[in-house]
Amino acid sequence: MEIQIQELTKIYRNGGQRALNRINLTIKDGMFGLLGPNGAGKSTLMRILVTLMKPSAGNIYVNGKELNKNRKEIRKILGYLPQDFRFFAKYRTWEFLDYSARLAGLKNKAVRNKEVERLLEEVGLFDVRDRKASRLSGGMKRRLGIAQALVGDPKIVIVDEPTTGLDPDERIRFRNLLSKMAEKEMIIILSTHIVGDISSTCNNMALLNEGKLVYEGSPDRLLEMARNHVFQVSVSHFEFEEIKEKYQVISTIPSVNGWDVQLVADRLDQYNPRVIEPNLEHAYVYFMEYVIQSHEQS
Ligand SMILES: Nc1ncnc2c1ncn2[C@@H]1O[C@H](COP(=O)(O)OP(=O)(O)O)[C@@H](O)[C@H]1O
Ligand SMILES: [Mg+2]
Repeated sequence: MEIQIQELTKIYRNGGQRALNRINLTIKDGMFGLLGPNGAGKSTLMRILVTLMKPSAGNIYVNGKELNKNRKEIRKILGYLPQDFRFFAKYRTWEFLDYSARLAGLKNKAVRNKEVERLLEEVGLFDVRDRKASRLSGGMKRRLGIAQALVGDPKIVIVDEPTTGLDPDERIRFRNLLSKMAEKEMIIILSTHIVGDISSTCNNMALLNEGKLVYEGSPDRLLEMARNHVFQVSVSHFEFEEIKEKYQVISTIPSVNGWDVQLVADRLDQYNPRVIEPNLEHAYVYFMEYVIQSHEQS
């Protein structure tokens, strides 16, 4: 599978400014992480990808076929979990999937039953299949959302901020579910504003900011860019106030004489800093604060 996005632009009629500004991006098999702060344009891009909305300009090709001209055909291989996913409160878990399967065109009851069973197993909801969907826990609801996106074995699955509001256990479980799926020959696009969701399970990622694509590549390369720009310092209360003014502070822990602080900076010549290995969160902050800024000035 390959999705090619060319010069994609979206201007909302009532909005005025560009929600997406000339995006060029190629996405191949595996898990693809779409990271960006709120309002960056992630949901807009996803809605266009699943043909719910048309772009203002630009094109998308799926395996070389223009999305806009082959909507019907391409929809058949798409699964989508919207950001604001809701389901009818009256349905039981299995009934909801049965309903989704009917919508997807599975008319034969026996075939549908089998598909529903497969999906319940796949996302770990078989034991609660008779429970009302509205009574499921937050994590289970999200997994039910994934299950409905997987009806009919899609080749491209698009999930929009699926981990928002989940507790850490559920978040890990969810991530594991997605990365297990990504072992197949398919594209999974996961959008998030939470850096921790983009783990090593994403072989590629993109960073959107104010409608622009500001980074595309592996999480590792982003990490590499932050190397030698993440510091740990032990400082007094007074120095800490100074540091907060000047640098991007990632974390602080109280110490005997003040604070132990992790910060991101282009360079740091005072406070006797120790350089530490960047994690993806450091790298994200470094990139947003220093790399993009300098791009925009030049
Ligand atoms: N239906 C809409 N009408 C007008 N503006 C919109 C609409 N949906 C989103 N926007 C605007 O487009 C920009 C991108 O939004 P969105 O794609 O939802 O970003 P994200 O999903 O990254 O938070 C934001 O400035 C948002 O306010
Ligand atoms: Mg969104």
